[in-house]
Amino acid sequence: MQKKMTIPDIFLMKQEGRRITMLTAYDFPFARLVDQGGVDMILVGDSAGVVVAGHDTTLPVTMDEMLYHTKSVRRADPRALVVADMPFMSYQAGIEDACRNCGRMIKEGGAEAVKIEGGVNMASVIRAVSAIDIPVMAHIGLTPQSIHRMGGYKVQGRKDQAERIMDDARAVQEAGAFSVVLEGIPAPLAARITAELSIPTIGIGAGPDCDGQVLVIHDILGLCEKYSPKFVKRYAELTPIITEAVKTYVDEVRAGEFPTAEHSFN
Ligand code: KIV
Repeated sequence: MQKKMTIPDIFLMKQEGRRITMLTAYDFPFARLVDQGGVDMILVGDSAGVVVAGHDTTLPVTMDEMLYHTKSVRRADPRALVVADMPFMSYQAGIEDACRNCGRMIKEGGAEAVKIEGGVNMASVIRAVSAIDIPVMAHIGLTPQSIHRMGGYKVQGRKDQAERIMDDARAVQEAGAFSVVLEGIPAPLAARITAELSIPTIGIGAGPDCDGQVLVIHDILGLCEKYSPKFVKRYAELTPIITEAVKTYVDEVRAGEFPTAEHSFN
């Protein structure tokens, strides 16, 4: 059995120049599959609200829903480090609230780290949560919980906005984040941040020069037909395979071909 991934292992990977791999999972079967595939970290993303629950944004996702998903992933006992997303309004209203909710994600959910969206504006929260020994992965650039401020899912940090993203990166590292997700920013800016920071950067739509990469599992398996962002590569097309299996089942039941004696009890 391979050794369980820990926060020091993730740091070491940056120091040794080994690329870090991360995928989302929201339930027991996918956590097992993703872990068997060998990822270093599993993100229980609040993208569950979109790809599992069918919302248009991540904003409606609740603490209870994230706890449910995180517990389900933990039951797979993955070798990968389990990072749980903190949903909208579970950490924005105040430091005490943030510490309490992040604590629940570790204590009840079984997460090994939490992820918080925001840079300079969330530095005090990241500092307080890190100070009670809850490892925080920060998330800057295109932060989906800020969709209304951004006016849509738009690339951030272009031209004169780049320095603002640099400031966010420095602020989250200084506040104690153990790593940072860089989402939807120009590749050269992500390369600059990765070179400057000592904590690992995990990119999504941020080019090839981050220390690691993360994607949504439903996206890479072709299970989310609603959105197909440019930065996603589909490694499988499961939608037609699943639909075909269901159609065959429906046809066989209707034709009286299933179940046969093989699938029946005497
Ligand atoms: O919720 C999520 O899946 C995420 C990733 C897209 C980084 O935050």
